[in-house]
Amino acid sequence: MSYVMETYSRLPIKIVRGNGCRVWDDTGREYLDMVSGIAVCNLGHAHPKVVDALTEQAKELFHCSNLYQIPLQEELAGMIAQHSFDSRAFFCNSGAEANEAAIKLSRRYCNTMGKRGAHIITFEGSFHGRTLATVAATAQGKFRKGFDPIPEGFIAVPYGDIEALEAAIDDRVGALMLEPIQGEGGINLPPKGYLKQVRQLCSRHAILLILDEIQTGMGRTGKLFCYMHEDMEPDIMTLAKALGNGFPVGAMVAKPYVAEAFIPGSHASTFGGNPLAMASSIATLKVMLEEKIPERTGEMGLYLMDGLMQLKTSHAGIKDVRGRGLMAGIEFDTDISSFNADGLDKGILLNVIQSRILRIAPALVITKQEIDEALAAIDTLLTEKGL
Ligand SMILES: Cc1ncc(COP(=O)(O)O)c(C=O)c1O
Repeated sequence: MSYVMETYSRLPIKIVRGNGCRVWDDTGREYLDMVSGIAVCNLGHAHPKVVDALTEQAKELFHCSNLYQIPLQEELAGMIAQHSFDSRAFFCNSGAEANEAAIKLSRRYCNTMGKRGAHIITFEGSFHGRTLATVAATAQGKFRKGFDPIPEGFIAVPYGDIEALEAAIDDRVGALMLEPIQGEGGINLPPKGYLKQVRQLCSRHAILLILDEIQTGMGRTGKLFCYMHEDMEPDIMTLAKALGNGFPVGAMVAKPYVAEAFIPGSHASTFGGNPLAMASSIATLKVMLEEKIPERTGEMGLYLMDGLMQLKTSHAGIKDVRGRGLMAGIEFDTDISSFNADGLDKGILLNVIQSRILRIAPALVITKQEIDEALAAIDTLLTEKGL
């Protein structure tokens, strides 16, 4: 019996240590980690510069209330603005909280400064978190089941279909929230140019564009942020997951004219922007930039995609392979949920989403040899399964 609530179906290993793209369980068994804590440890486990920054900060000050100035918040917010778009940041502790903050900011903007309603368009197959508002924004019924009454004010439209989006815009709509590539929904890439078209549509109708870069951000797709693949910028962007390379942290950044809708007292978080979280995030971002991790990810992503294409030619069970950078999916016709456990037998951590899609999201510091190792393990697994 466990005193922990059963909200997860957990695999039967206990991971106790990690380094780079590898983790070890309590028996000393090694695994190649192709999950990275679900796109979290982008610099790999126990990156020395992040470990140093965190331990040095821990010796100085764990926590400081937002009643006082926190210079590390200023530093991180400035770095994000300098390397994305002119923005002001609100710091929190997770992805759901970052999106919750984005929803609140957009509503406050629309209600106090905008000329339209405060409804938000979201997209079928999206995933934005597990708080009530983010579940409402997440247009996948399974995440809402049993949680009625669900907060109102969200309108779901098909992902990647610009006409359907335009048709859904009416006076009630003041914002739109989307993932540049849908992660939990199945590694769904929109058609090329879609983000830019969405941007144009939002500008034309004076609708706020909120990009959820929680999974796609921090170098994952081969750019520091995924929107940078297209010539566009959001009005609000949310970050979490890899921002602190595993230290819990989230951020919601907004263009200054939108950020103005929050005034002292509008929103808050006890732990948000905690010095430990800020120190980890600053160190992570510095390594990303200094070591040109996004560029490297783009190259490794091409190498991975090449290998996945080869797998597809030798395994008829593979319906599709897709992805960008080191965010990839292998889609099957059949239920492959057992791969999560099957991978463990082969010494590899794998992650299945939507029952039929194998998500590949290793640390961005993965080597070609490690990619080869992962491809070989998947190849063997598929052969054994007759796929
Ligand atoms: C795109 C996206 N948004 C939001 C979230 C929620 O983040 P968290 O689990 O940190 O609340 C996730 C988590 O998988 C995500 O992939």
